[in-house]
Amino acid sequence: DFNNLLQAILGYTELLLSGMDERSPQHGDLKEIERAARRAADLTRQLLTFSRKQRIEPQVLDVNQTILSTEKMLSRLMGDTILITLDLHPDLKTVLLDPSQMEQILLNLAVNAKDAMSNGGQLMFRTDMAVLDDAAAASHPEAQSGTFVRLTVSDTGSGIPDEMLPHVFEPFFTTKERGKGTGLGLSVIYGIVKQCGGWITVSSSTDAGTQFSLYLPANETKGETPVENTSQLADIPPTLPGIGKTILLVEDEPGVRNLAALVLQGAGYKVHVCTGADEAKAIFAKEHARINLLFSDVVLIGQNGIDLALDLRRQIPELPCLLCSGYADDTVRWESIQKEGFHFLPKPYPVAKLLSAVIEALTATAP
Ligand SMILES: Nc1ncnc2c1ncn2[C@@H]1O[C@H](COP(=O)(O)OP(=O)(O)OP(=O)(O)O)[C@@H](O)[C@H]1O
Ligand SMILES: [Mg+2]
Repeated sequence: DFNNLLQAILGYTELLLSGMDERSPQHGDLKEIERAARRAADLTRQLLTFSRKQRIEPQVLDVNQTILSTEKMLSRLMGDTILITLDLHPDLKTVLLDPSQMEQILLNLAVNAKDAMSNGGQLMFRTDMAVLDDAAAASHPEAQSGTFVRLTVSDTGSGIPDEMLPHVFEPFFTTKERGKGTGLGLSVIYGIVKQCGGWITVSSSTDAGTQFSLYLPANETKGETPVENTSQLADIPPTLPGIGKTILLVEDEPGVRNLAALVLQGAGYKVHVCTGADEAKAIFAKEHARINLLFSDVVLIGQNGIDLALDLRRQIPELPCLLCSGYADDTVRWESIQKEGFHFLPKPYPVAKLLSAVIEALTATAP
């Protein structure tokens, strides 16, 4: 498993660093190795976000249908101040794409748009067919002639300054503060679209917002019907399980934290997001009467998740606690997790698994 290899690289690098004088010439080199390994770990996390499947399998897919089946969750995610509008072409051809990748595309674009519209606005999904001849294809370096399904996602947000526009698809290019963005959302989309033979155009202005157009080659094989919603997001129950329930989420890795918060909010939960135990305790001190579940990573910087759960339980003994951790972590104290009746979710977890674990922890401990 690639993640375990990275874990080993990081672990040994750390070991070497700890026994080394900071002024030694190798110290900086080791730091670079550490940095690169962390970035590689971020990258694999993004790539594995939606499918724990080992293989990505392109299928005959109706883009309109994917948009419709994710719309509910997207509009939850956007909140009350952002209006989602759809303009879907009725005779859209199908494309060949893995459904989970299509969802990841929609989600990454929507999250970016949301971040750019902190004061609210409009998010628009439009589909149409684009038939390009050679002359039209010449207008963009990556374009080709042919028949394409065009997905255009536009927002009325802050826009992207001209000098940044050429860089937005670069891995790790981000303008967000540390911990808020890894700069991988668009590069992952770029990769997916490239892989199926398409390309992306972007236009933006700081007063009108941003527009991404994805050109996906139309699937010309006849007689195949598009896949039904076999997607993980579509598996989320239509009646949102989280309405009226509040979760205290503690996770120090930004990628994992953002994803978990997003999924839980998408399912209707109110989520207090914390990066560590101290922050969680401060929120708990004020909000404990309204918190229904602690969901914490075991391995945190500072106090670990198990001790945090024990501390909070001292105040509210019946507080449901769901802890998660990578299975290879031997710092996890299994006995205390079992003895205390904490629920456990192994990492990395698929989206659907996260939701079912949360629901289970909430119902199992309810009076
Ligand atoms: N709709 C948008 N409006 C304004 N700026 C955008 C928009 N989409 C992307 N950007 C800019 O492009 C940058 C790169 O986007 P990308 O999705 O690759 O990374 P990120 O959002 O910063 O981090 P991540 O997606 O990994 O959480 C963003 O930091 C932002 O500056
Ligand atoms: Mg992003």
